[in-house]
Order: sequence, then structure tokens, then C-alpha cells
Amino acid sequence: KQTLEQTLRAAIRTIPDYPKPGIQFRDITTLLGDARAFRRSVDELVHPYAGMKVDKIAGIEARGFILGGAMAHQLSSGFIPIRKKGKLPHETVRVAYSLEYGIDEMEMHRDAVKEGEKVILVDDLIATGGTAEGAVKLLRQMGAQIVAACFVIDLPDLGGRAKLEALGVEVNTLIAYEGD
Ligand code: PRP
Ligand code: MG
Repeated sequence: KQTLEQTLRAAIRTIPDYPKPGIQFRDITTLLGDARAFRRSVDELVHPYAGMKVDKIAGIEARGFILGGAMAHQLSSGFIPIRKKGKLPHETVRVAYSLEYGIDEMEMHRDAVKEGEKVILVDDLIATGGTAEGAVKLLRQMGAQIVAACFVIDLPDLGGRAKLEALGVEVNTLIAYEGD
């Protein structure tokens, strides 16, 4: 049987110089298209929380929706979409977050989470952690208790995991790409 590391490395596609020269883009569409690798990834993401009562999974648009929906089903939790600004129809809370170049804003419905609810945050990848930090702020602003933040891919050289841990968030990642 392949190790998790072997399964994920084989299933994640690396696109050199995308979206710009020098960037190695870690493409999870190949992982999502591989039935065994997709199931294994979701199983591993939820494993630490099996048997725990988790009220909601919060997924970050867009790839966090795919992983988060599957996790919510498996943990019998609800799902919260955290979206780019302007996409949600009801009253929202909004936060600015830093990107590699400049800033953007993301939103969550104000009534998406209730005070004290246990929430797991998920996205496909953590790099600088700016995106996940924004999501943590939104969830905490509405009183969520963040159980953990989960990502398939960690780029530890970019410091995102350390940034979240400094905020007191438990971080769970499945595979790290270092040194490039
Ligand atoms: C990627 C990835 C994470 C984020 C991580 O999304 O899906 O959401 O970057 O980067 P960070 O840790 O440095 O914030 P991207 O911003 O490319 O947008 P997309 O998901 O809408 O494609
Ligand atoms: Mg993203």
C-alpha cells in the first residue's frame, strides 16, 4: 500500500512557471479527479476530528468548498462558504486580507456561525497564510471556536502555518513542498 505521502505526491500536478515565471503551481485538480487520492485526502483531513462534535466546516472559495463539503458530510457537520466579496446575498462580515501582491476582501454571512460553535477551517493550500488569517478573523468575529485549520498542501517556506499557530490555531496539513 502506498503511503499517504506517495499517494498525494503522485496525484498532485506541478505546473512550472504558472501563473508567472518562477512559481511552481501545485494543481489539485488531478488529485480531485483520482477517486482513491480524493477519498484518502478527505479521510486524512477529518481523521483527527472523528468522533468529535464539529458544528461546521468553513471552506474558503473555491477549492476549499470541494474539500469542505466532503468533510462536512463525513463529520455530519454543517458547511459555511467564505467567499470573495460581493458574492453572498445576505448580510455579511467582511475582512481585507493580504495577497502576494496587494490586498483583497472576503466575506461570510453574519448568521453563518453562532457564538461558541466549533468550526474547522479548510482550504487546498496554505502559503503565506494571508487568506487563512482573514478567514480566522471572520470566524472569530462572529464568536466561532476554531477547532483547527486544515490544508492538503503546506508551503512551509512561506510561513503560513507559523502565522496561524501564532494566532492559537491548530494547523493540520497532509503534504509539504519545501525548497522551491
Ligand atoms: C490560493 C490557495 C489559497 C491561497 C493560499 O488561492 O487556494 O486559497 O492561495 O495563499 P496564502 O496562504 O498566501 O494566502 P488564490 O489566492 O490563488 O485564489 P483562488 O483559490 O481563488 O484560485
Ligand atoms: Mg484559494
